[in-house]
Amino acid sequence: MEKSKSEFADVIETDREARQDGHWTGTFLDYLQKLKQDPSLAELAHARLYDIVAEAGWEDLQSRDDPAVKRLFGDESLKVYNLFKDEFFGIERPITQLVRYLHAAALKGEEYRQVLYLLGPVGAGKSSLIETLRRGLEHSPPFYAIEGCPMHEEPLHLIPRHLRREFEKMLDVTIEGDLCPVCHFRLEAEFGNRFEEMPVKAVAYSKSARRGLAIVPPVDPNNQDTSVLIGSEDISKLDRYSEGDPRVLELNGAFNVGNRGMIEFIEVFKNEIEYLHTIITATQEKFVPAPGRHGTVYVDTVIVAHSNEAEWQKFRADPTNEAILDRIVTIKVPYNLRLSEEIKIYEKLLETSGFRSHVAPHTFEITAMFAILTRLAPSNSCDLMTKLKLYNGEEVVEKGSTKRIDIDELRAETTSEGMTGISPRFSMKALDNALTESPEGITPIHIREALIAMVKEADFPEKTHKRYLEFLQDTIHKAYLEILEREITRAFVYAYEEQAEALFQNYLDHAEAYVNKTSVKDRNTREDLQPDEAFLKSIEEHIAIIGPETEGFRQEVIAYLWAAGRRGEKIAYTSYEPLKEAVEKKLTTSVREISRIITKARTRDEEQKEKYDALVENLLDQGYQDYSADVVLKYAANNLWKD
Ligand SMILES: Nc1ncnc2c1ncn2[C@@H]1O[C@H](COP(=O)(O)OP(=O)(O)OP(=O)(O)O)[C@@H](O)[C@H]1O
Ligand SMILES: [Mg+2]
Repeated sequence: MEKSKSEFADVIETDREARQDGHWTGTFLDYLQKLKQDPSLAELAHARLYDIVAEAGWEDLQSRDDPAVKRLFGDESLKVYNLFKDEFFGIERPITQLVRYLHAAALKGEEYRQVLYLLGPVGAGKSSLIETLRRGLEHSPPFYAIEGCPMHEEPLHLIPRHLRREFEKMLDVTIEGDLCPVCHFRLEAEFGNRFEEMPVKAVAYSKSARRGLAIVPPVDPNNQDTSVLIGSEDISKLDRYSEGDPRVLELNGAFNVGNRGMIEFIEVFKNEIEYLHTIITATQEKFVPAPGRHGTVYVDTVIVAHSNEAEWQKFRADPTNEAILDRIVTIKVPYNLRLSEEIKIYEKLLETSGFRSHVAPHTFEITAMFAILTRLAPSNSCDLMTKLKLYNGEEVVEKGSTKRIDIDELRAETTSEGMTGISPRFSMKALDNALTESPEGITPIHIREALIAMVKEADFPEKTHKRYLEFLQDTIHKAYLEILEREITRAFVYAYEEQAEALFQNYLDHAEAYVNKTSVKDRNTREDLQPDEAFLKSIEEHIAIIGPETEGFRQEVIAYLWAAGRRGEKIAYTSYEPLKEAVEKKLTTSVREISRIITKARTRDEEQKEKYDALVENLLDQGYQDYSADVVLKYAANNLWKD
């Protein structure tokens, strides 16, 4: 007890020491000394934000030795940024664009004077991306501001124009912006213009305390008041002070609060056009009007806005908005379209929820499959399931060879893929529903039912409704049966991988002998044998390679593996996708009958019982629990091997 108490104290004390900097106060002269040592303290908002991303580091996606990545992105240069990497999946492109914007703006390129606008469907992660940036600022070292300034403004504004060049040289910084009316007044009234004595303090970014971070929800259209953005005049003080006296100012609008950091505009195009003009002026000119007759105030902030496509299209259609459109950097944030990454999203979201029940293997996969199918645009070159696999970086086998479809061409067929369909929120709701209904745990069977129920209830247009139900009742049903049969085969075949490997090696020996017109040396008896064509065929037929096609297929296999061997790659049964599929199917077929009998039997004899128990045991090893194993085996018995 005592020990843990002191442990708490330790943590608190260590944290306090680390945050010493956060309590710094001094005069402007002291601040100048600090700045001399570290000119980066005077960085502008965009540069600060970029530094946070850059300092967390990144990795080149291509440097991952992942064949799926190579297939998906070719030589495209995409980075995975550590700041985002544990939370965002499958949206490397938008994130790379986002960081590119910050980088260019940090260097004061054109982007420095433009609004960053995230365009994407509901639940695609727009708010979360901004939240991550905001958290980055909240965790970053404090910034320095004139004490008492409602806008936490940069103390360098105190330096009068005529001295700036000299100070810029001495400090190696550039000085932008002018004092706000409130500080201007104080400087004169309280300090007799002795600006070096103005108090300065360290300030930590905080969303809740409205320091450097502001969020603006869409403003009520009946309330045309811009005070939300730029603050107001305190009417109660108007009779005490003369007109134009800055002491009546309440600089507490979003632009005042978000100065030095970031402002987020939620569903930005729901706002009145007047608001948009204020936003645009703020980015373009770096100032906003002060309330009443107080001129303008300088602002330094990253403006991030977002909305969904419908609002965007409506706004864009109006030609009078052209000037605004020209000052917006649009980044599309579509839904993720990669199966493997969608699964990671659900794992992340479930982790943060309170549910701790068992989720059987492939449950997320089936959920993700549905989500992604709803997001894909149909193509003439392949069916949707094939597209889904290709987008997942998988190789798809068709008529004995890997399907050659250029993914870039597939992508180029549509412009807005990923901008419609269901969101991760929808999927999570289905998972939550299923978990609530079935506290013993859930399987793909549960989730498919939950999804069907949700689609039936949802308020989709008739066509969408029909399409989604078809995915669930047909496409996904079939896909799951395939997965399930493979799963059971694996659990059934003793030492599955070894057997697959043995079949594969055997195939290679015989195919090679066949192609080279030589004989095969039996691995055990050392006898010379003729290549066993019947055996070769018994594998090939599983991927519909028959008759005259066999010759070419065998040559391809040997050539492929020979080339892989020369590249120094380790050759295994998984090396050549078509052959892998053939071998796996052969194994599946070899146990299909026994699987059928064992799982379907109402009563099992001794031997059958032993086999069944071994099967269940293996399923448990694969991540099932008694309950889920029982559910999927019953399902297999009723659906996979119909009499
Ligand atoms: N690609 C993704 N990777 C990881 N998480 C994601 C991804 N897309 C969405 N999410 C998660 O889904 C949830 C919904 O996202 P978020 O609220 O950020 O969406 P949004 O685009 O702001 O939606 P809305 O338009 O409805 O406000 C969040 O928990 C988010 O983390
Ligand atoms: Mg949002």
